[in-house]
Amino acid sequence: MSLLEENQSTDLEKIVGLSRRGFISAGALCGAAMFLGGNLLSRSVLAAAVSEGNSKLLGFESIAAATADTITLPPGYKSSVLISWGHPLQKNAPAYDPSGNGTARAQEVQFGDNNDGMSLFPFPGDDNRALLAINNEYTNYQYLFPHGGQPQSAEEVHKAQACEGVSVIEIQRRDGQWQFVQESPYNRRIHGNTPIDLSGPAAGHDLMKTAADKSGRKVLGTFQNCANGMTPWGTYLTCEENFTDCFGSSKADLQFDTAQKRYGATVASSEIDWHLHDPRFDLAKNPNELNRHGWVVEIDPFDPKSTPIKRTALGRFKHENAALTQTSDGHAVVYMGDDERGEFIYKFVSRDKVDHKNPKANRNLLDHGTLYVARFDAGDANPDHPKGMGQWIELTHGKNGLDASNGFADQAEVLIHARLAATTVGATRMDRPEWIVVSPKDGQVYCTLTNNAKRGEAGQPVDGPNPRAKNVYGQILRWRTERDDHASSTFAWDLFVVAGNPVVHANTPKAGSSNINPQNMFNSPDGLGFDKAGRLWIQTDGDFSNAGDFAGMGNNQMLCADPDSGEIRRFLVGPLGCEVTGISFSPDYKTLFVGIQHPSGGSTFPEHLPNGKPRSSVMIITREDGGVIGA
Ligand code: FEO
Ligand code: CA
Ligand code: CA
Repeated sequence: MSLLEENQSTDLEKIVGLSRRGFISAGALCGAAMFLGGNLLSRSVLAAAVSEGNSKLLGFESIAAATADTITLPPGYKSSVLISWGHPLQKNAPAYDPSGNGTARAQEVQFGDNNDGMSLFPFPGDDNRALLAINNEYTNYQYLFPHGGQPQSAEEVHKAQACEGVSVIEIQRRDGQWQFVQESPYNRRIHGNTPIDLSGPAAGHDLMKTAADKSGRKVLGTFQNCANGMTPWGTYLTCEENFTDCFGSSKADLQFDTAQKRYGATVASSEIDWHLHDPRFDLAKNPNELNRHGWVVEIDPFDPKSTPIKRTALGRFKHENAALTQTSDGHAVVYMGDDERGEFIYKFVSRDKVDHKNPKANRNLLDHGTLYVARFDAGDANPDHPKGMGQWIELTHGKNGLDASNGFADQAEVLIHARLAATTVGATRMDRPEWIVVSPKDGQVYCTLTNNAKRGEAGQPVDGPNPRAKNVYGQILRWRTERDDHASSTFAWDLFVVAGNPVVHANTPKAGSSNINPQNMFNSPDGLGFDKAGRLWIQTDGDFSNAGDFAGMGNNQMLCADPDSGEIRRFLVGPLGCEVTGISFSPDYKTLFVGIQHPSGGSTFPEHLPNGKPRSSVMIITREDGGVIGA
């Protein structure tokens, strides 16, 4: 059932040419077609946008897919390493030790592992100085320990925890080239054992209290830090994604409740195994510790002594990133995806307005506000371009069935169990929401839906923005809010691109939309970023086998799209076995920082030493002529 009133015809509906009655019948038609003949969508009818091949916005030559153990770029571009896993962040910190014998203490003062999302904070008034806050998502035991296996002691668990979290580093442009500044007092590690405050409605709740923290307001560590956000008041947001994987149980027959199961709790801990040597991660001993992770954490990069803060008002789930914008009357808006098959897209709107004149006045802005979850209607029967309407549904205790009768005693429980709350209000289960970004040009919001092999199973209908069963390629969803105001409860959505393989699966839905061709095809879009000119940068974390469904796609890569024409060109191909994730630009947009995460499968990137280990790295991409990236 739509939340729109029956007779309400909004401006937005006029824009997309839909009425409520129209898209209900469209959805019914679509469902009937699928029932009768399977998925009737063909390549020609899945056209999300027209590819002309002559975009004025994209000024580089599209490159071919590649399978080399290196960074491949268009003619006229070059790359170098800014920093790699294990690099000492202070002058007196131990050097990276490729043997794996380095200590946990050493790792706590070295660049973390598996860098992911990052944000660049220029120093006010100095275009040659900036801080980069960079997430470190996880670690690879294969490379971390000399034995290459699971952690075998408390020290080894601590070392693994020290690999994760955030690295804040200073960078300076010297002789025209950005470089890491090892002597900077701003360099900082926040890791799996750093003291962090809990704030917002869930802080202090009984479900947040443990034997070690009877207040429910102090937690150790942030880990599995996926992507990021940057507030207009100059703070960094790091998003806790697959936190549940770090927990296990010493009791093999431990029974989990509905909420624990929904967040993926298992006895075996997905091979991370911290619980074997750190009782904090043993759910049989510390079940509430699980509730203290899965949040968005705010960090002030310019105050290295500041305590990071987990902002519980933004909800607890497997956070991908946090895209900041604001309503037309100045309230902060944070769009967020929950990266799991069949999970949801959320929006937070702050109670108070952003004070742009006094950044410090916004210190606790993210503690008060309203969380919403998205419901998408089934969409338009006109299959040239899947599109439809959607609504934001409020996740506030006492509204929309979120009360004790449905298992929510108070707002803290709505937030701690945000996934359950979103299910209660009838949100749409999505194809793994990854990054979300907001266009600087027109305010449209883009979200990668990376893939979902379970689409089509019970509870996950093939319709709306999730139009393919067993979706192995992914798509990019886009929506425009009513009145172009992010405060609106209604929006119009369409699919900007449906990824696919038009060579292997010509003339089927698996070929993708018409802006996918044999030259630019890719799978599993994940990272996203806009530059100032409005180019949309797309990073992939997909199947790099270059075979079968993925033949001709090569290694994971980075592409660039013209949001208006829909044209997409391949800009960068990463080394073997990597994921390309994390994007920032220098203030003049002449340097692009790109994350290369977990090169593997025989990779020795970036040093290429004989028998050398691969190291996740942040790369510097520039033009040989010093021009603006992508132009
Ligand atoms: Fe950490 Fe969903 O990627
Ligand atoms: Ca990701
Ligand atoms: Ca991913």
